[in-house]
Amino acid sequence: LWTIHQTLPADLRNQRIQEAAKALQDGKTIAFPTETVYGLGGSAWKPDAIDRIFSAKGRPNDNPLILHIGSKNQLDELVLQVPKLAETLMDAFWPGPLTLILPKRPEVPERVTGGLNTVAVRLPGHKLARELLQASGVPVAAPSANRSGRPSPTTAAHVEKDLSGRVDGIVDGGATGFGLESTVVDATGTTPVILRPGGITSEAIQKVCGSVEVAEKEDNEAHPQSPGMKYTHYAPDGDLYIIEGSTAFFQKNITSAQKAGRQVAALADDKELSELKPDTAVSLGAAADTNEAARRLYAALREADEAEAEIIFARSYASDGIGGALMNRLEKAAGGKYLREG
Ligand code: TXA
Ligand code: MG
Repeated sequence: LWTIHQTLPADLRNQRIQEAAKALQDGKTIAFPTETVYGLGGSAWKPDAIDRIFSAKGRPNDNPLILHIGSKNQLDELVLQVPKLAETLMDAFWPGPLTLILPKRPEVPERVTGGLNTVAVRLPGHKLARELLQASGVPVAAPSANRSGRPSPTTAAHVEKDLSGRVDGIVDGGATGFGLESTVVDATGTTPVILRPGGITSEAIQKVCGSVEVAEKEDNEAHPQSPGMKYTHYAPDGDLYIIEGSTAFFQKNITSAQKAGRQVAALADDKELSELKPDTAVSLGAAADTNEAARRLYAALREADEAEAEIIFARSYASDGIGGALMNRLEKAAGGKYLREG
């Protein structure tokens, strides 16, 4: 474990980054923070490391990985060409929480891309992540550093909980910023197609590119869904419902579940929680704020599970901007179950 927090003296910080970078070059698996969630990293050029990423996570073999780079120069060894659309998106959003699907070079292993002729690439905005990637100089395949079927980790403690004994090292850089995974965009055509909503909103992409499409359905023939989206997503142990309505309606649902003898957890902002009486109150922030709720969502779901809640009610958020990604993850966790007032 390398703890690399802001306060560390520069020489010690550099030394630890160099050690972790060397481990990646040597084919070790290293978990590290990004601005979205923690990733479980391994060199794209080390088949053993890639195998160990899949087995550590318990990840289906045909679900391709995102390659993380520390600088744009590294693109040349991964992609055949950078379409004009991709160039526009990179200029606007890199470094940052945007993953681009691009035509792959034959050298990129099939194991990384799930046999597709495209490769997913991302240049993270997180300072420590970029320093680590630059120091290693290799493209680093990194899915979220959770066991498959668990919420993505937003702290090093979450990574340890899920992957202890299954990963060679963890770089602890504190809590991640955004808290939800990157936006995945197919940039091989003339119109950007969002395969997975995330940190970069569809509104922002539309503004820069003049148009945007969203691949919503699995059976979308024109744009087959990002392979990862077909797998069951994280579902908490408790039965999760999204609440749309007043605080009184929220409490009414809590009360009736408790009357039925159930342990109830409520996910909402502190202001609303102060008016609710669940068995376990889980905070999504001080006041209703989508950014804050996005940052806290995965930790909140872990907390509800740890409290052994049988029923979980979560407040719904407006789905514009960042709320699009937030509600996408919440709906997946709830299996689409809403409770609407009236
Ligand atoms: O924010 C993130 O993207 C985090 C951090 C660690 O960077 N990583 C992450 O990786 O979320 P992962 O493996 O959990 O999700 C990768 C997604 C999956 O839905 C996968 O199917 C999709 O990207 N993907 C990867 N390569 C693809 C390709 N060639 N075509 C379409 N989708 C692809
Ligand atoms: Mg994931």
